[in-house]
Amino acid sequence: VSAPKTSAAGPLRVELGARSYDILVGAGLLGEAGALMAPLLPSPRVAIVTDETVARLHLATLEASLTRARIGHESIAFAPGEATKEFGALAALLDALLEAKVERSTTILALGGGVVGDLAGFAASIALRGLPFIQLPTTLLAQVDSAVGGKTGINTRQGKNLVGSFYQPRLVLADIATLATLPRRELLAGYAEVVKYGLIRDADFFAWLEANGERLIAGDESLRRQAVLKSCAIKAAIVAADERESGERALLNLGHTFGHALEAETGFGPELLHGEAVALGMIMAFDLSVLLGLCPPEDAARARRHLAAMGLPTDLAHLPGRRFDPAALLDHMSRDKKVRDGKMIFVLARGIGRGIVADAVEPAQLRALLDRAVAA
Ligand SMILES: NC(=O)c1ccc[n+]([C@@H]2O[C@H](COP(=O)([O-])OP(=O)(O)OC[C@H]3O[C@@H](n4cnc5c(N)ncnc54)[C@H](O)[C@@H]3O)[C@@H](O)[C@H]2O)c1
Ligand SMILES: [Zn+2]
Repeated sequence: VSAPKTSAAGPLRVELGARSYDILVGAGLLGEAGALMAPLLPSPRVAIVTDETVARLHLATLEASLTRARIGHESIAFAPGEATKEFGALAALLDALLEAKVERSTTILALGGGVVGDLAGFAASIALRGLPFIQLPTTLLAQVDSAVGGKTGINTRQGKNLVGSFYQPRLVLADIATLATLPRRELLAGYAEVVKYGLIRDADFFAWLEANGERLIAGDESLRRQAVLKSCAIKAAIVAADERESGERALLNLGHTFGHALEAETGFGPELLHGEAVALGMIMAFDLSVLLGLCPPEDAARARRHLAAMGLPTDLAHLPGRRFDPAALLDHMSRDKKVRDGKMIFVLARGIGRGIVADAVEPAQLRALLDRAVAA
């Protein structure tokens, strides 16, 4: 297992032995997708899974490139949004695939954001006990996070992502040009995950984001490409070292335990997007790190300053009219998947670029932090 190459030109490789794969990042890749994936397909047939919004904007480009490469294709589009990541849609998708008589050699393509990627990946992992799978992420969040690393799944009544599988794609094609149609709010939410990589692992990348974040969000494709590549490189290295999250992969959850609690309270809907919740959660994690004497206050202030400058929420006052109850937030946090032997696993930081996994946070300290955050 070696670290991924981070050359600006070549593809990035996720090193997972027999399950290794390339991540290609560039503008216009969707138009070349057929030719790029052809060598990897066991047979020239694919089934595209997407959502209706992405289908309207980007499906024709993908289909044309598949046709040019003589790859047979059909597609199924779901309603956009988190509500699609559930048993009903999974059943409908499996039903459609089996009705279409997919074979073991038919490749599933996920064209869309994390919702489509997680749903399609899960279906690919169980249909006929596993079909080849390729990710074509079209949100910034999916390009830097959900399309890489092999976690798939759906939500249930009991919570998010509680049913799923580890199932790696054969290829990830991140077409930066698709981000041009993404609403700014969604783009910013994905940017929070980009910042996460700097905060947990790479102070230089964080400084680069401080310098370039604004132009990146404004539309600079070269900066977007560099940020996606760097984010994927950091995630790929962490996943290669710990595919099934027995240790350091937990670093990727910086801000997520707090964030999930906030999302649960706001209903996982448009009031608070996942990336926005992660931005808030990362600041809470830094504040807790300061409270525990682990992190210099200047570093927490700097993290907050950058997220705020980009237009991301950094304190709960961002949600006007919403009063959070610290006890309710604590309750959600204790139900999180990241609880081990009854102890909450927290990602904290010794500073910018220095994330750590901690499991000995005293409930009283956590409560103090939540009381303060809610009062802000
Ligand atoms: N598997 C993982 O490791 C992992 C990691 C992080 C997040 N996730 C999951 O990802 C999901 C969130 O992903 P997301 O933020 O991409 O959400 P999403 O898939 O719901 O996409 C967000 C919105 O953007 C629209 N959209 C997508 N691409 C577009 C484009 N190019 N132009 C215009 N609109 C576009 C979609 O239709 C949707 O309305 C959550 O379910 C989360 O649990 C998974
Ligand atoms: Zn996330």
